Amino acid sequence: MEIEHNAPPEATVLGGFTPEGAGRGPKVYIETYGCQMNVNDSEVVASILADAGYGLTDDMEQANVVLINTCAIRENAETRIWGRLDVFEQLKRRRKGVLVGVLGCMAERLKADLLERREVVDVVVGPDAYRDLPHLLREAELGQRGVNVLLSREETYADISPIRLDRYGVSAFVSIMRGCNNVCAYCVVPYTRGAERSRDPQTIVNEVQRLSHMGYKEVTLLGQNVDSYRWQPEGTPDRQAVSFADLLERVAQVDSHMRVRFATSHPKDLSREVVYTMAMYENICNHIHLPVQSGSDRMLKLMNRHYTRQGYLNRVAAIRDILPDCVITTDMIAGFCTETELDHDQTLSLMREVGFDSAFMFKYSERPNTKAARHYADDVPDSVKTRRLQEIIALQNELSEQSNRNDVGRCFEVLIESPSRKDPSYLMGRTMGNKAVVFPGEGHRVGEFVYVKITTCTSATLLGHIVDEQTATPLLKKQCSGE
Ligand code: SAH
Ligand code: SF4
Ligand code: F3S
Repeated sequence: MEIEHNAPPEATVLGGFTPEGAGRGPKVYIETYGCQMNVNDSEVVASILADAGYGLTDDMEQANVVLINTCAIRENAETRIWGRLDVFEQLKRRRKGVLVGVLGCMAERLKADLLERREVVDVVVGPDAYRDLPHLLREAELGQRGVNVLLSREETYADISPIRLDRYGVSAFVSIMRGCNNVCAYCVVPYTRGAERSRDPQTIVNEVQRLSHMGYKEVTLLGQNVDSYRWQPEGTPDRQAVSFADLLERVAQVDSHMRVRFATSHPKDLSREVVYTMAMYENICNHIHLPVQSGSDRMLKLMNRHYTRQGYLNRVAAIRDILPDCVITTDMIAGFCTETELDHDQTLSLMREVGFDSAFMFKYSERPNTKAARHYADDVPDSVKTRRLQEIIALQNELSEQSNRNDVGRCFEVLIESPSRKDPSYLMGRTMGNKAVVFPGEGHRVGEFVYVKITTCTSATLLGHIVDEQTATPLLKKQCSGE
């Protein structure tokens, strides 16, 4: 995702242009933090506001309304947002009449408390209340600061076409469900996003069709736990229910040239049907993000993850059995409550055993009101958490480099996503396995598929050069047979 000016690098800014349909009214600037779901939510918000007549801008200095879509997953995510509110406060001092709205998970967690920052916050809106935003902004213009953080059992924004504001128009997020019904002891998401609900599959297929017509080359289906997607209108028999595997198949059939990805899978719920569906459709990417969190059975139990170390390893074996070339990535938490050196060593040994291709790795951060915060002591000293996290990161770097080295000499179909950040004569794209590849552009453009032969790598990136189809074909075969 492209990063814009006057926002910190970890933010995604929407509004690079005034899309058709966006109004000519007051200009809205939206800055987004957190997960892909939040990015997609900002696109929904942009659509709701455009329908209400608002225009969009990627320049905070030009905006009449500044919105920040927030994340609450770890304490440092929230610290970052407080820092941004300070910046917005200065902006309001400089430019009278600017309205500031706090959206998303931190808005949901802190609710009206956020309005205590009187000088800066005008509206607070939770993830299920975005339809109310035009009304709340109108009230705020009249001096009435407002909050809507009602969570819903039904809202999926199914009828809203998100305004796609990514710069290159290649890859789009499509939310297929909202909320989460799991209670992982450390996690704030069920409290900020409410109960799980699935979106009508026909509206998902329609959206993917629209994206295909617009020229998009890739969609990522989003949910906190996509494997528990289930659509069964009341009164219909079980056999007519649509599972995630069914949905994936329907989406893959929309356009055989469009890549399909999904995130996130939960190890307790990922089904063989999903993996078989991946194997059946060439356009479903061979990548599964399967967060493990810990390699210790004791930790997994305390985290309320509902699988064991062996259960996880069995899932990985089943995936590799059906899809030998599947890239497997994960999330890891270091220093959860009561974690011992032995537990930590088990995480390291599991990482080696699986050989993850890459991972997101975090230090445990206690979140108020979660099961862990209520029942367990956050008793691993910060220095120990930091050291364990560093060990996890160092090991993952080795594993990622090993995984990438195995790809040297192979050839991959790459979807070009953007010019390379370091040198614009180079392009950046991704393999089906979601690995980043950088190569000389040779006149090719963003949005094209090319074949790239990998010549070298780092732990984070594959490097190579474009080859023609004839050169690529035998190398691609090698890739498939795993020789
Ligand atoms: N729904 C997804 C992702 C949830 S959030 C899933 O179930 O995997 C993304 C990641 O943030 C989690 O996988 C976990 O590794 C991490 N995370 C969540 N809560 C955390 C906390 N309190 N402290 C540190 N990391 C956390
Ligand atoms: Fe959080 Fe667990 Fe739900 Fe993921 S599955 S969002 S980690 S509660
Ligand atoms: Fe953050 Fe909410 Fe996503 S807490 S990770 S923005 S679901």
